[in-house]
Amino acid sequence: MKGIVFTEFLDLVEAKFGLEMVDKIITESNLESNGVYTSVGTYQFSEMLQLLQHLSQNTNISIDDLLLVYAEHFFAVLAESYPGLIDSYKDPIEMLASIENHIHIEVRKIYPDAELPNFEVIEKTENSLVMIYKSSKSMHYFGLGLMNKTFEHFNSTATIQLEKIKKDGTEVKFIIQKN
Ligand code: HEM
Repeated sequence: MKGIVFTEFLDLVEAKFGLEMVDKIITESNLESNGVYTSVGTYQFSEMLQLLQHLSQNTNISIDDLLLVYAEHFFAVLAESYPGLIDSYKDPIEMLASIENHIHIEVRKIYPDAELPNFEVIEKTENSLVMIYKSSKSMHYFGLGLMNKTFEHFNSTATIQLEKIKKDGTEVKFIIQKN
């Protein structure tokens, strides 16, 4: 997992819960990196999982809810870092339907070692989209947060339903209806 995902996560933890919480979750985790991340480095996903688990235990907020809030913050980071990529779209449905064939392809050019999910478009109309998310990382709530912010970015809203295809969240159907 790319370092930018860790550095932005820890910045958000500090902003919301304070530096003591950052220190606490790093100390409670068993991290090969020792909790020292650079945005361009690459680190084990298991480190993110441990940080999330300990933050969840210490705050009583579920990992899904933490991922949702974190994704909403991360969208702003992406929008600032890669404005050209998002500005090439005029419509949120078009943008979300292009994650697999355009957006994450461009991401891979910037970060060849990025570990990206797979999004398969099943059905698409002007105002609706059905996609299947597949990833060993089960970060579907991270995807949901990014989708919410994608609609907001285009001054729009949507109703998004998640249906787990696999219990562990490695395969999830997203049913997206623009309001
Ligand atoms: C992961 C970039 C838009 C879904 C990532 C990662 C990057 C990235 C750098 C981390 C990869 C790693 O750590 O190895 C971008 C950029 C975007 C964009 C630059 C737009 C300009 C989106 C959107 C979605 C999305 C709109 C909506 C669903 C995800 C998910 C992950 C991810 C779910 C977590 C990894 C996983 O589940 O396997 N993306 N992304 N991305 N992205 Fe995107």
